Amino acid sequence: TGKSKFLIGFSQCTTADAWRKSMDLEMQNELLYYPDFQLIIKDAGNSSKKQVKDINELLAAGIDLLIVSPNESEPLTGIVGDVFKKGIPVILIDRKIESDNYTAFIGGNNYQIGKEAGKYAVQLLNGKGRIVEISGLEGSSPAKERHNGFVEEISKFPGIKIISSLSGEWEVSSAEKVMNDYLELNIPFDLVFAHNDVMALGAYKSYIRKFNTKKAFFIGVDGLPGNSSGIQAVMDRKLDATMLYPTGGSLAISLAANILNNKMVNKENILNTLVIDSINVRAL
Ligand code: FRU
Repeated sequence: TGKSKFLIGFSQCTTADAWRKSMDLEMQNELLYYPDFQLIIKDAGNSSKKQVKDINELLAAGIDLLIVSPNESEPLTGIVGDVFKKGIPVILIDRKIESDNYTAFIGGNNYQIGKEAGKYAVQLLNGKGRIVEISGLEGSSPAKERHNGFVEEISKFPGIKIISSLSGEWEVSSAEKVMNDYLELNIPFDLVFAHNDVMALGAYKSYIRKFNTKKAFFIGVDGLPGNSSGIQAVMDRKLDATMLYPTGGSLAISLAANILNNKMVNKENILNTLVIDSINVRAL
């Protein structure tokens, strides 16, 4: 009849950046293999409040499965748990909630990513230096986990200190602004660790505007290919390194297919990371 057998709702926290767009596209491409699936994507525009509303609308539309990338953990924990308790399978992607009321999680290990970034920073700084951290939205799980992993590594070296942690909210414009304000204080630093590449590049832009040449190190996360992305920025030597953070979009759809076809799935589906720097960037 051409009628879809399964309706999947995807509540995306934002689609403003290239990484999110790439996640959506991966899902749409993977769906071509599942002609009996229909996907509705809702964009919460970085608002946890809107995201709760979006999920209620997806429920009202009669979804068979929910995929959700929670903008912030705490405000989404209730509604996501409600969906799960109704018996509707829930796949968390990239960001987490504060309970285990979900069917499966898919995404990178952000604590490990923070640790890898920390190890790389220690290497660059040769055991001594001042770091400015630019954090993603503090209420979102990857920001907490990247921070914790990073601190875990650098705290092994008494000569290395995070002298400031600025709030970049995952956004290029916020990062550019907070770095701009920070530079006004004229406090020297040696390395910037930003929780994603767009924020690293926003901070880099402010830095270059002030100093003209790059004397500090810059590390980001995501390693997306394409123009003005992390990989390009490493090639251009704007960033010293980025930690690959796969979106998991296509795997989320195959996971959804397994769940809807009553196959066993793992609850935790962790995607690998990789340090991308000037040594291996061309191979990618
Ligand atoms: C995209 C993004 C990525 C980051 C991820 C964390 O919206 O900010 O850059 O790795 O979300 O959830």
